[in-house]
Amino acid sequence: MAGRIEVGVSAEGVQGLALKRANRHGLIAGATGTGKTVTLQVLAERFAREGVNVFAADIKGDLSGCAASGDPPPEWASKRAAEIDLPLEPEAAPAVFWDVYGELGHPIRTTVTEMGPVLMGRVLEATEAQEGALTIAFRIADDWFKEGKNEGLLLDLNDLRALLTYIADNSDDIGRKYGLVTSQTVAALQRKILQLEMDGAERFFGEPAFKLDELLRTREDGKGTIHVLAAERLVQSPRLYSAFLLWLMSELWEEMPEVGDPDKPKLVFFFDEAHLLFRDAPKELLNRVEQVVRLIRSKGVGIYFVTQSPADVPDIVLSQLGNRFQHALRAYTPTDQKAVRAAAQSFRANPDVDVAKEIQELGVGEALVSTLDAKGAPIPVARTKIRPPNSHVGPILLSERQSMMRDYAPGRTYEKAVDRESAHEILGRRAEQAAAAAARAEEEEKREKEAAKASRSRSRSSSSRSKSTRSRSRTTALERQGGRVASNVLNTIARELMRGILGTPRRRR
Ligand SMILES: Nc1ncnc2c1ncn2[C@@H]1O[C@H](COP(=O)(O)OP(=O)(O)OP(=O)(O)O)[C@@H](O)[C@H]1O
Ligand SMILES: [Mg+2]
Repeated sequence: MAGRIEVGVSAEGVQGLALKRANRHGLIAGATGTGKTVTLQVLAERFAREGVNVFAADIKGDLSGCAASGDPPPEWASKRAAEIDLPLEPEAAPAVFWDVYGELGHPIRTTVTEMGPVLMGRVLEATEAQEGALTIAFRIADDWFKEGKNEGLLLDLNDLRALLTYIADNSDDIGRKYGLVTSQTVAALQRKILQLEMDGAERFFGEPAFKLDELLRTREDGKGTIHVLAAERLVQSPRLYSAFLLWLMSELWEEMPEVGDPDKPKLVFFFDEAHLLFRDAPKELLNRVEQVVRLIRSKGVGIYFVTQSPADVPDIVLSQLGNRFQHALRAYTPTDQKAVRAAAQSFRANPDVDVAKEIQELGVGEALVSTLDAKGAPIPVARTKIRPPNSHVGPILLSERQSMMRDYAPGRTYEKAVDRESAHEILGRRAEQAAAAAARAEEEEKREKEAAKASRSRSRSSSSRSKSTRSRSRTTALERQGGRVASNVLNTIARELMRGILGTPRRRR
C-alpha cells in the first residue's frame, strides 16, 4: 500500500496526503496569518521523513526554523497536538540553505545562456522590441557557440552587456543576417542590466552554476532534505524571484527522467508568493508555465503553489493542482467574495460541508483539505485542524544557520565565483584591438597626408601612394571583420543548443 503523510484531523478522521499522488501538485491558500507557512512546514518535514527531497522558497525567513528542533514546543503547538491526538515529537528536519545573494545560504547561480531569452526578458522587464533584441543576441551567441567560439558563452551580465555592445557596433552586418536592432533598444537594455546589477543580481549570474543534482542528493539515513531558498531579499525583485523559480522548474522538467507516478515523489517544490509568477505575465509565458506544470509531474516532481487566494492562480494551472489546503479567506469586498466563491467551486462537493461559508469561518491553523487518494480520485473536502510541526516555528538563529552552512561540504563548492573567458573578455579584447587598429590607421593616414603635402612639390606620384596605403588599411579593417567570423576557435564544447520549453538550451546529458 502506498504510504501517506498525516497532516491533521477532521471530524471524518486523520487527513493526509497520498505519497503516490503527491506529484499531482497542490495549493496552499489563505489570508495573512491563517497558518499557510506552518502547513507548508508540516508538509515539508513530513515529506523529508519519508525520504522525499523538498525545495521551498522562504519568503519571510520563518521557514528556516525547520532546520531546528521545536523543543520546547510553543503553547499553541502542544495544545493543538493534544486536541487532535497526533504525536508531537520535537525534532529538526535535515535542511540546506541556499541564497541567490550568497548571504543566508550557499550561493545559487546560473548563467545568462541557461536562463535563455524568454526568462531574461522577463527579468529585465523587456518591451517587445527589447525582447526581440535579446532573442537576436542569444541567436548570435548560439551560432558562435556552435562554431566552437567562446565569445558565444554568456555566463554573467558582463557577457550579455558586451554582446549587446557588439551588436550596436555592428548593427549593419547583424541587421542583414539576423534582423534590425536599433541602438536605442540596445541602450535601453544596457540601462536595465545596470539596474539589475544595482539590485545585486550580478551575483546570481555566473559560475559555478547550480547543479540540479544538489536537489536530488540522498542522505545515508534515508531521509529527504529540505532545501530552503532564503528569499526575503530576492522577493524584493519580484521578476527575478519568479523568473528564477520558473527557471528551476523548467530545468527540472528538462533534466529529470520520465518516471510516471512513482510511489513517492522525487522532489516537491513549494512556490511561495505564487501570485508573483502570474502577475503581469504575458499569455505566452502563462502557456509555458501551464505546460511545465502539466508535464513535470511525470518526472516525479510535485509543485505546490502558496498564495493568499486561489484566484491568484490562473484557472488553467489551478485545475492541475490536485491537493488542496485552503485556509481562511475573508470576504469584505466584492473581489474577496468572488475569490471565496472561486475557491469553493474548486473543491469537490461534499454534501456535509458548505465550503463557501466555512472558508470564512475557519480558525487559524485550520484548513479545508481535499487531496487525491492513492488511486488519484479526489477525497471529499474536510474541515481539518492542521497538526503542528516537530521543528521550530519561526526563524532559525543566524549563528545556527551559519554553522550549518560551514558544515555542508557540497554547498561550499559554490562559495567562490569563477570567471572564465567568455563573451565579455573576448569581445572586449577584440573591441580594444579594433579601436587600437583604427587609431593606428588614422595616425598613419595623418602622417602620410603630411608627408604627401610636404613632398607634393617634389614628386607627383606620392598622392597615389597615399591612396593605396589608405585602401590597404581599409582592407585590414575588412579582414578584421572577416576574422570575427572565421577565426578564434577556442575551447570547443560540443553542446546541443536546442532550445527547450522556456528557450533555455537543452544540456548534454
Ligand atoms: N496548525 C496550527 N495549529 C495551531 N496554530 C497555528 C497552526 N498554524 C499556524 N498557527 C498559528 O498561526 C500563526 C501564524 O501562522 P503562519 O505563519 O503559518 O501564517 P501565514 O498564513 O503563513 O501568515 P503570513 O501570510 O503572514 O505569512 C502561527 O505562529 C501560530 O501561532
Ligand atoms: Mg507565511
